[in-house]
Amino acid sequence: MTAAARRPRVLLTAALPDPAPRILEPLADVRVLERPPSAAELAGELADGVDVVLGQLVDPFTADVLRAGAPGLRAVCLYAVGFSNVDTAAASRANVVVTNTPDVLTDDTADLAVALMLAVGRRLLDGDREVRAGRFTGWRPDLLLGRRMHGSVLGLAGFGRIGQAVARRALAFGMRVRCTRRPGATDTTPAAPLPADLAGRVEEVNWPELLSSCDVLSLHVPLTPGTHHLVDGAALAAMKRSAIVINTARGPVVDEAALVHALDTGVIAGAGLDVYEDEPRLAPGLDRSPGTVLLPHVGSATLHTRRAMAELCARNAVHALAGTLPPQAVNPDAWGGQLRPDLTAPGRVPR
Ligand code: DGY
Repeated sequence: MTAAARRPRVLLTAALPDPAPRILEPLADVRVLERPPSAAELAGELADGVDVVLGQLVDPFTADVLRAGAPGLRAVCLYAVGFSNVDTAAASRANVVVTNTPDVLTDDTADLAVALMLAVGRRLLDGDREVRAGRFTGWRPDLLLGRRMHGSVLGLAGFGRIGQAVARRALAFGMRVRCTRRPGATDTTPAAPLPADLAGRVEEVNWPELLSSCDVLSLHVPLTPGTHHLVDGAALAAMKRSAIVINTARGPVVDEAALVHALDTGVIAGAGLDVYEDEPRLAPGLDRSPGTVLLPHVGSATLHTRRAMAELCARNAVHALAGTLPPQAVNPDAWGGQLRPDLTAPGRVPR
């Protein structure tokens, strides 16, 4: 330790579950914000001399905010897999490594997508309301008839980890599964072969064909300029009138005003949403649109997974403090790798 050495400073923009505090507190001075910061507040916090920030998907890590952290800020460790709220190009320019929490939330998010398919298709919330309101007067042949999963066509937009996990579940339900791997992407590099257990069981089709042939469209793409409003009025109009849309990805992938119009005018039959274009606000009328189930962004919200996310996020932060490239870096080129001699940071990552 040099004479001027100090403990690293770590900022959490929201309290994280165990084991994050247990991992971080022995190593750094940890400050936890009590409410989500605005861009100006976050910039002010970072300008105060933060070495690593553990952020949420709602935090605006804009170019200006990242600049405010320079030159001391080494890493933005997100407690989320999606990182569309971070200007990663600006982060790379500022030598700030950005990390996320992939894999650990795949199964829970896939479960929730299937739960939404069932909830919309089998009208689960309508049934719950009937019973609670005392309107269930006994079995009837025509009561709350819904759509079956078995035999219907699931269209997956995006076929990464979560899309594949949804495919496995859907196949177990007897659905016919189709996918378009990178709708909206400009990248034309050939995609890797389908995983062995899905090859021959999932049919790859182009985006227009996916839209026109599916009974359920489930979205599993990252939010990028190419996927912003991927599902717009024209896409909805290309779908079957009986189709439903499931979104557990990011709200702006769907043009929410166009979705409300499509639901209200019978262009499609329903939607199960966990994410919104302007969270937590809803597009006008969405809460009254027929055939909808609306959840408050809980795709990864199980105790088990949130703990795993907290651990991954904190371990990425410790790597950054220790001067080793964090394993879940999404912009590894930004990493200079140099140990900061002015910090009493750990020389190795504790187990
Ligand atoms: C994520 O991690 O990106 C999810 O949207 C929330 O867990």
